[in-house]
Amino acid sequence: MTKPLNVGMIGYGFMAKAHSNAYAQVNHFFDLSHRPVLKAICARSADNAKVFADRWGYESVETDWRKLIGRKDIDLVDICVPNNLHAEIATAAAQAGKMILCEKPLAMNGPEGLKMVEAVEKAGVPNMVWYNYRRIPAVTLARRIIEDGKLGRVFHYRAKFLQDWTISPDVPQGGTATWRLAVEQAGSGVTGDLLAHCIDTALWLNGPLDTVNTMTETFIKERKHNLTGKVEKVGIDDACTFMGRFANGSLATFESTRYARGHKALYTLEVNGEHASIAWDLHDLHRLQYFDHRDEGRLRGWRSIHVTDHGGGHPYMDKWWVPGLQIGYEATFVHQLADFFTGLKESKPAMPDFRDAYQTQLVLDAVLQSAKDQKWVNVAKG
Ligand SMILES: NC(=O)c1ccc[n+]([C@@H]2O[C@H](COP(=O)([O-])OP(=O)(O)OC[C@H]3O[C@@H](n4cnc5c(N)ncnc54)[C@H](O)[C@@H]3O)[C@@H](O)[C@H]2O)c1
Repeated sequence: MTKPLNVGMIGYGFMAKAHSNAYAQVNHFFDLSHRPVLKAICARSADNAKVFADRWGYESVETDWRKLIGRKDIDLVDICVPNNLHAEIATAAAQAGKMILCEKPLAMNGPEGLKMVEAVEKAGVPNMVWYNYRRIPAVTLARRIIEDGKLGRVFHYRAKFLQDWTISPDVPQGGTATWRLAVEQAGSGVTGDLLAHCIDTALWLNGPLDTVNTMTETFIKERKHNLTGKVEKVGIDDACTFMGRFANGSLATFESTRYARGHKALYTLEVNGEHASIAWDLHDLHRLQYFDHRDEGRLRGWRSIHVTDHGGGHPYMDKWWVPGLQIGYEATFVHQLADFFTGLKESKPAMPDFRDAYQTQLVLDAVLQSAKDQKWVNVAKG
C-alpha cells in the first residue's frame, strides 16, 4: 500500500513541468511507500493555472501561494518560481508544517539561505533542493567510482556550463519570461543559475571548496526592463570564471557564460586523479568517460562507458529499460523524487536537503565577493 502525499505546486514554468512529469512517472518505475497526488497548482493567473492543471492533472488551482500553503489538504509544497521568492515561500511553508521541495539555488544569498535552513530545521519538516544533476546515472556512477578510491589522490576538478541565449542586446530583463536577467529576481547571473549546479556536483564528488578567486563580466550593460518599460542597468553577471582550492588539495577551475555562441546547455566536468580520470558531458549524458593508468599498456585509453547496464551495477538503470537503452534529462527529476520518498520511508533524508544546498550558497557568495573585491576569498564554513 502506498501512502498518498498531496502536492501543492507553485509556478507553472519549465521546472513545474519537469517536476509534474516526475510526480506522474515516479510510481510507474519505482517501488515506493508514497504516492504523489497532484492536489493544487498555484499561478498568479487563474487562466494559466487552469490550463496547466488540465494538462497535468492537478485537481484544483490557486492564485495566491499563501492560500495554497494554508490549505489543510496540502502535504508537500514544491517551489518552482524565481529565486527571489524561494525564501519567503519556504519559510511560510515550514511554519505551516509542510514538506518542502525547493528549486535551486536555495536562496538569493547565504544569509537568506541560512534562515531557510533554520526554518525547516525548527519545524522539523522534510526538505530537499532540486540539484538534479546528481541523479544522472553517469554522474552518480562517477561519485561511486571516486568513493571507491579508483582515482587516488585528486589533482584537478574542472567544470563548465555554457549557453548563448542572451547575446542579443534586445533580450529584455525582468518579468515573467526573462527574470534570470534581473538581479532583483535572480540574485546573480550565470553564477547562481548555472555555476550553482556545477558547484553542487563538485562538492558532492570532490568535497568542500576552501577558497576562490573570480572574474565576472556583464557584456551588455543596459537592457529594457519588462516591468518598468525603461532601459535600466543590468545587475547580473553574464559570465563568471573562477579558480579555487578544494579542502583535499585539488585545484578547481569553473567557467560559465551565456555568451558562448553555439552552446545551448553544455555542462561538462572532468576530474583528474593520480591513477585515473573521469569526464562527463550533459550532451552525452548517458556516457561516462574513464581513463585508468593501471590498465595494461597495450589497452590503455579512454573508455566510454554507456551507463545503461544494470547488470554492471549502473545506478537507477534497473528501474527503466533493458540494458543498452537510454533515459533522458527528465529522468533525473524522477530519480530525485524517488530518493526523496525512500528517504521519508527510511527516515534518512535524501540529499541535498536545505542544509546541504546551503553549502553551495556559501560558495556562490564567496565567488561573487571575490569578483567584487578582485582578490581571493575564503568560503565561509556552514
Ligand atoms: N534544477 C534545474 O535544473 C533547474 C532548471 C531551470 C530552473 N531551475 C530553477 O527553478 C526555478 C524556476 O525556474 P523556471 O525555469 O521554472 O522558471 P520559469 O520562468 O519557467 O517559471 C517560473 C514560474 O513562476 C511563476 N511565478 C512567478 N511569480 C509567482 C508568484 N508570485 N506566484 C506564483 N507563481 C509565480 C511564473 O508565472 C512561472 O510560471 C528557479 O529558481 C530556477 O533557478 C532549476
